[in-house]
Amino acid sequence: MEQITEHLCRYKNHNFAAGLTTAEHIDSLQSFEIRDSDIFLVTYLKSGTIWTQQIIISICELAGGLKEYENNFQQMPWLEYREDNEDYSLRPSPRLFTSHMIPALMPPGLKDKKAKIIYVMRNPKDNIVSYYHFSSVCADMETPKSFEHFLEQYLTGNVSGGSWFDHIREWHTKKEQYNILFLTYEEMILDLKAAVTKICTFLGKNLSEGDIEQVVEKSTFKNMKKDPKANYEFVLQDRISGNFMRKGQVGDWKNIFTAAQSQRVDHLLQEKLGDLSLKFIWE
Ligand code: A3P
Repeated sequence: MEQITEHLCRYKNHNFAAGLTTAEHIDSLQSFEIRDSDIFLVTYLKSGTIWTQQIIISICELAGGLKEYENNFQQMPWLEYREDNEDYSLRPSPRLFTSHMIPALMPPGLKDKKAKIIYVMRNPKDNIVSYYHFSSVCADMETPKSFEHFLEQYLTGNVSGGSWFDHIREWHTKKEQYNILFLTYEEMILDLKAAVTKICTFLGKNLSEGDIEQVVEKSTFKNMKKDPKANYEFVLQDRISGNFMRKGQVGDWKNIFTAAQSQRVDHLLQEKLGDLSLKFIWE
């Protein structure tokens, strides 16, 4: 693992927050045994990860047979970060995992297309703003000198998670290899019930209309903020001095981006991802 800065490490074309994983652990994932019933959530950082975790966990709880854990972080751990060295092969099915990694680092067994992956993308301008604020309060990350400086680091991929553009490209161009559902943060904001129903159908969980409503209720910004299992305040206490759940909106980028910065992102989007015909909702 190559140490890039005090807070950033690089291994196999991917950037990790320093100190949270090792090369040995990332390599070991190449022989990580996948079960058909496994469910993975994959995102670039600050794209709605903990929100989608809450939705998936609530669906699986209501569908029955999900072991209880202290909080969503333990219920749906990040595959790449091994803080407690738990042996996941001892977990009962269905197992739920989270990851910010690129396809090449994921367990190859996912290509059998039986285990399911949900990939959530957020428009890059809101993603940048969310990431910028998070970096300002998270002890595991470099405190940005300014928004302009952070923007530069983000656009050149010099942040934990690496390049947002590469992440999106990698997962979209390799989608045929996986059993994967693509969702966007913005569609979840626009119609949470439709997004919950989509996830439910993809996971093959038959929930009643009432159950779906319950998942939606548990996953609103207001209710998640009050939910100690879901709001990540348990992580915040020692590592993060602000709120994990900050604003939860589409279009906050307009409060901070200059016109020139916005155009730069538009230009890069066209240059790097223009051929993928992705649709973005900006406000
Ligand atoms: P903001 O910083 O824009 O508020 P991640 O979980 O990938 O780190 O993403 C965090 C972002 O998702 C934060 O965005 C957070 O507020 C938002 N988020 C978390 N739960 C949400 C919810 N229930 N509804 C809308 N946004 C939510």
